Amino acid sequence: MRDELRTERLLLRQWRDSDRLAFRQMNADPRVMEFFPELLTAEASDALFDRAEAHFNRHGFGPFAAELLETGAFIGFIGLSIPAFEAHFTPAVEIGWRIAFEHWNKGLATEGASAALSFGFKELALEQVVSFTVPANLRSRRVMERIGMTHNSADDFDHPRLPEGHPLRKHVLYRINPSSSPAAKARA
Ligand SMILES: CC(C)(COP(=O)(O)OP(=O)(O)OC[C@H]1O[C@@H](n2cnc3c(N)ncnc32)[C@H](O)[C@@H]1OP(=O)(O)O)[C@@H](O)C(=O)NCCC(=O)NCCS
Repeated sequence: MRDELRTERLLLRQWRDSDRLAFRQMNADPRVMEFFPELLTAEASDALFDRAEAHFNRHGFGPFAAELLETGAFIGFIGLSIPAFEAHFTPAVEIGWRIAFEHWNKGLATEGASAALSFGFKELALEQVVSFTVPANLRSRRVMERIGMTHNSADDFDHPRLPEGHPLRKHVLYRINPSSSPAAKARA
């Protein structure tokens, strides 16, 4: 299992109990949770934290806790996970991110996501990575595009965890494979 990844400004590492408070605050921020069905209660945030740790224990990889190297602050998560629902593209490995609002607009999500993607291709030998969100989440879609992922509208899907008619049910899917990844091209 790889415990951590380093980038210029970030340490992507295992979760610590001391991250729980900042994680709860982030998950209760309406700006961060705009494209999710609801704000998370402290209990729901802790359950998500526990699932991230359990994912590492079960699969040897998972969504890393993201720490700003300059200050040591926990700022959110970035990493790989296996979606726990069935859809036309599963089984799959997903790349995802959630960053506290005050750390947006600095390129940190893209920086961490590029490192997590390279790790997935080089060390886990993944053949494909997907990412998905609601069509209106343009910030997240731009991260997907900046790390080289592409969208085909034929892949769009209704999230099976949300009921028919729910405004967040429709999702766009992005994919990338090792040969089309910018990191792979840089090595060629
Ligand atoms: C999705 C999310 C991580 C994107 O955050 P972000 O700060 O926009 O993304 P990045 O960290 O890659 O930063 C890129 C932005 O910083 C700007 N930027 C400023 N300084 C920069 C620098 N030094 N390097 C790179 N980009 C920089 C870029 O221009 C870019 O802005 P643009 O997209 O308007 O052109 C964030 O909005 C978030 O956590 N949202 C809530 C959770 C969520 O929706 N997660 C995804 C669910 S699928």
